[in-house]
Amino acid sequence: MTRLLHLTDLHFGLHRVELVEPLRAAILANQPDLVVVSGDLTHRARAGQFRAAMQFLNGLGLPLMIIPGNHDMPLFNPFARFLSPFGRYRRAVGRDLTPQVALGAVRLFGVNTADPQQWRGGVARKEEIERVCQAVRAGPDGGLNILVAHHPFAEPPGFERGETAGAQIATEKLAAAGLNVILSGHLHHWTVGLGIDATSVRPVLHIQTGTALCSRIGEKNHGFAVIDASVGQIAVTPWVIDEARTVFAPQARVAFQGVDGLWQRVALA
Ligand SMILES: [Fe+2]
Ligand SMILES: [Fe+2]
Repeated sequence: MTRLLHLTDLHFGLHRVELVEPLRAAILANQPDLVVVSGDLTHRARAGQFRAAMQFLNGLGLPLMIIPGNHDMPLFNPFARFLSPFGRYRRAVGRDLTPQVALGAVRLFGVNTADPQQWRGGVARKEEIERVCQAVRAGPDGGLNILVAHHPFAEPPGFERGETAGAQIATEKLAAAGLNVILSGHLHHWTVGLGIDATSVRPVLHIQTGTALCSRIGEKNHGFAVIDASVGQIAVTPWVIDEARTVFAPQARVAFQGVDGLWQRVALA
């Protein structure tokens, strides 16, 4: 069993300062094998915001896998946005915008969906998807293959905005190659197992986690997802802020089983 902790949309610079320490404590209490951070580390891609985000993340002392989000590109500086959209991200986080991590049979593939040409939307770049498909096909067989993207590859009810260009065809290609799970953020909204219920199965399990810290008006259910994963088995526990006590608390666990390449929801024992 591999324990992943999915953290997304920290938005340092427009974040709830009072949640930072409770977040740190809750992450450490879960002892994950890997913290997966799917973008929007900062609100405006400023150097100080990246410093604060990386101080927090590196301070956890846990293995990290990080990809950029749309807020990690400068918005108001057109020269920086178009000439070097990920320059600040690379200086602060690292050069690799599409990291890959293998933890035994669990393999994670990062893609960069942030697009300097769009204000908010993203793109599933053909060459990145093709590279992931090849890596998944190359095996080893019988693993659990997870894509990590900032923008969602499937949109839940109420969010059908066509936000990620090419996501549908990319998902079909990835599923055909043997990809099992897509982790994403960006919507600041929780949806675990979109399209999967008692009567409906899917080849790809989408786990969309809410914002960890963003303080924009109207944001709610701040938290992160704890994902206990092994081949053919996934259990997701959303950890969500209890506003009255200012602590992150585990919510009901949701479990899925992969049968013949299709995910179905299973009752917990
Ligand atoms: Fe965000
Ligand atoms: Fe975003």
